[in-house]
Amino acid sequence: MYLAITLRTGLITLNILAILTIVGIVAYRVLSVRRVPAERTPQNLAEPMPDEVMESRKLERSLRWAFTFAVILAAGLPLYWLVEPDRQASASKGFEERAVERGEVLYSNKDMPNYDPAKSLLCANCHGADAAGGQAPFVVTPAAQGDEEARPIQVAWKAPALDDVFSRFDEEQVHTILVYGRPGSPMPAWGVAGGGPKNEQAITDLIAYLKHIQVSSTKAGDIATRATKKYVAEQQQYVETAEQNLADAQEALAAATTAAARAAAAEDVAAAEFALQRSRARYEEMSNASEGQLLFETNCARCHTKAWSYYDPSNPKIPDIPPAGSGALGPSLRAGSVLQQFPGLPADDPTTPGFIKQYDWVAVGAGINKPYGVRGISSGQMPHMGTILTKAQIEAIIKYERSL
Ligand code: HEC
Ligand code: HEC
Repeated sequence: MYLAITLRTGLITLNILAILTIVGIVAYRVLSVRRVPAERTPQNLAEPMPDEVMESRKLERSLRWAFTFAVILAAGLPLYWLVEPDRQASASKGFEERAVERGEVLYSNKDMPNYDPAKSLLCANCHGADAAGGQAPFVVTPAAQGDEEARPIQVAWKAPALDDVFSRFDEEQVHTILVYGRPGSPMPAWGVAGGGPKNEQAITDLIAYLKHIQVSSTKAGDIATRATKKYVAEQQQYVETAEQNLADAQEALAAATTAAARAAAAEDVAAAEFALQRSRARYEEMSNASEGQLLFETNCARCHTKAWSYYDPSNPKIPDIPPAGSGALGPSLRAGSVLQQFPGLPADDPTTPGFIKQYDWVAVGAGINKPYGVRGISSGQMPHMGTILTKAQIEAIIKYERSL
């Protein structure tokens, strides 16, 4: 780097000097008020140089110049050869750094130092300024999901962490997600091909930024392992919220004076009781869940259980969560369907070919449009967990899945 800079500035200085010299000579020639020199005899009429001069002094002078330039070339080429790899490396590093910077501007929200109101896409609002995950306000319409009576409800949809996204997906998969978004979820399409606002350059810059902020897969694994405890704690939090809501509703009922207000308050109490009972049941279920079930909840359910991403049992307006693994973006894994895709009994025996194939699918996966299982074709939508979760953790998830 240092060498490259000194060579570069050296050459620039040399060029400037050369240009100045030429300009100086021309100016001197034009401006100098020299006496009109005596008219010279045209060259064809002039006496040629005698052979002794031509073939000794004159020739030697030309040869000396030729030699000097040959030496300059001979010294210059190896020097160039020495410096060039360094120059190329630093050029491509600079290129990469600028892509990361542009990606960071795109990712930022106004809590981040590189926020630019004209350019930033506010990924950080949903995924967190530290990209460790967050949530997105979203409106879901249960009516569209079969409940004709229900009104649209405001929910908080969990947005996954992105600081480990390359431990789960490869670059092509992330590219597709960014271009097309996740229809039916708050994740918008960003690429032109998906109907979004951004060209390929911006998508590549975002990918460069995301790559730049990745945590190691060991750290991602630690986070994933701790996430199960956090998930149980979150269910406990829902119970506390539901208890508080019920207490508030009962207070409101006690304070209601008119018959109409009492009826409305009584309805709220009933709803709060329902929410509390449901929150307790979910907390109870998750406190007693196997490791496999909890790892499924925290890594898989967002795509394989509808409503998982926004389910809040303490909010009575949100309908009950469907059975675990009954299908959403990913297919249903219930009622023996994974045993059809990956046959092998006993279902929980990790040495059957079906169990091993299912393990490979969850841990490593298959390339886009490549087959998996008996009749599966990979669409590239599913993340693969082999570098984040341990073998024992993945086996625990698969045992749970094969029991659904
Ligand atoms: C309005 C909120 C919102 C914004 C803004 C947003 N996302 Fe997302 N994103 C989400 C949600 C929610 C999901 C998960 C969707 C689901 O449940 O399938 C998601 C999923 C993703 C995923 C897939 C991760 C995985 O593990 O499945 C990537 C990658 C991603 N977003 C990147 C971005 C980038 C980069 C930006 C900014 C250009 C961005 N998102 C902006 C809400 C958002
Ligand atoms: C981002 C969404 C997403 C997440 C997260 C996800 N999956 Fe999937 N899964 C899919 C999709 C989509 C398919 C269908 C195959 C395809 O499109 O490649 C699938 C298919 C499967 C299948 C095959 C089902 C069949 O009958 O063909 C299994 C088994 C499976 N997933 C297990 C898991 C496990 C275990 C996890 C968590 C460690 C997980 N999935 C997390 C989206 C996801």
